[in-house]
Amino acid sequence: MEGPDQRAGRLILALETSCDETAAAVIDPSGRIHANVVASQAELHARFGGVVPEVASRRHLELVLPVVRQALGEAGVRLDEIDAIAVTQGPGLIGALLVGLSAAKGLAWAKELPLVPVDHLQGHVGSLYLQPHRIEPPFLCLLASGGHTLLVDVAEPGDFRVLGTTLDDAAGEAFDKGARLLGLGYPGGVAIDRLAAHGDPDAFDFPVARVPNLDFSFSGLKTALLYAVRDLPAEELERRRADLAASYQRAIVRALVSRAEEAAEQIGASRIAVVGGVAANSELRAALPEAAFAPLALCTDNAAMIASAAMYAEAIAFPGYLALDAYASA
Ligand code: KG4
Ligand code: ZN
Repeated sequence: MEGPDQRAGRLILALETSCDETAAAVIDPSGRIHANVVASQAELHARFGGVVPEVASRRHLELVLPVVRQALGEAGVRLDEIDAIAVTQGPGLIGALLVGLSAAKGLAWAKELPLVPVDHLQGHVGSLYLQPHRIEPPFLCLLASGGHTLLVDVAEPGDFRVLGTTLDDAAGEAFDKGARLLGLGYPGGVAIDRLAAHGDPDAFDFPVARVPNLDFSFSGLKTALLYAVRDLPAEELERRRADLAASYQRAIVRALVSRAEEAAEQIGASRIAVVGGVAANSELRAALPEAAFAPLALCTDNAAMIASAAMYAEAIAFPGYLALDAYASA
């Protein structure tokens, strides 16, 4: 495996299409971002209240090459100056992943470049290694996104030892489903975050189930919110929407913080790092003042984090990657 030092002076172009963001980025081995383009499809899916896989795939197909072109343009380089192509191989929506993977294979093959398949979850951890705020392991990493909630022991870059995970919904999914119950639309995390700022987090008691070991469970919380919403008269519901959002957010944040702290203690980690879409949550950021958070722009899906993780992943030399497949689940 090539380490970052042997790649000095070389540029990586990365593609990310695992869900509803079509993204391309160019970084160098120091972790400096030369371009980071994210075309979000959120608006397209909002009317359906969530991501529609087939709609996502078709949109990726339209956007992937324009987004790559824009990234190269912003970085001020031609494809000929790129030294390796990285791409998210999984987990994610299979049709969406295949668009990025096929495009990446095509680009790499045309220029006889190596291809670096990257795991999306390792990609989120990679968001910590980018300049100008690079964070060095060891740390206990809390990865909380729309599809995953994991506690990971990261002893050095590229390491990924899973200590705990969710038994049902992911934390971001709990935010999205809660937002839907509160009539806030999709994507829900940001909407709850904003509304919660105007509410009382102690107004409602939403308990989060404590499951054994270092795992999480959020589905009971969602049901508690459903009952609270159902039991309130319409006019009171309207008046108390911010209190509901604040109390619901508080419960998710408490669960994440307490488990992350337990895990850090268990492995003797002196530092906690937080990545993934939910790492953008303002209450979570305030609740862990000592923790290292991925920069806001790099919390939700992007290709810079995929390029970053590619520095620590195995590259496949030309043309050995043509039969490479995507994977939907971890
Ligand atoms: O990492 P990400 O972009 O996609 C996945 O890999 O899943 O995470 C998206 C998730 C969504 O569930 C979204 O609601 C949540 O991150 N999210 C937030 C916030 N911003 C995004 N959740 C809570 N507070 C936020 N500010
Ligand atoms: Zn993600």
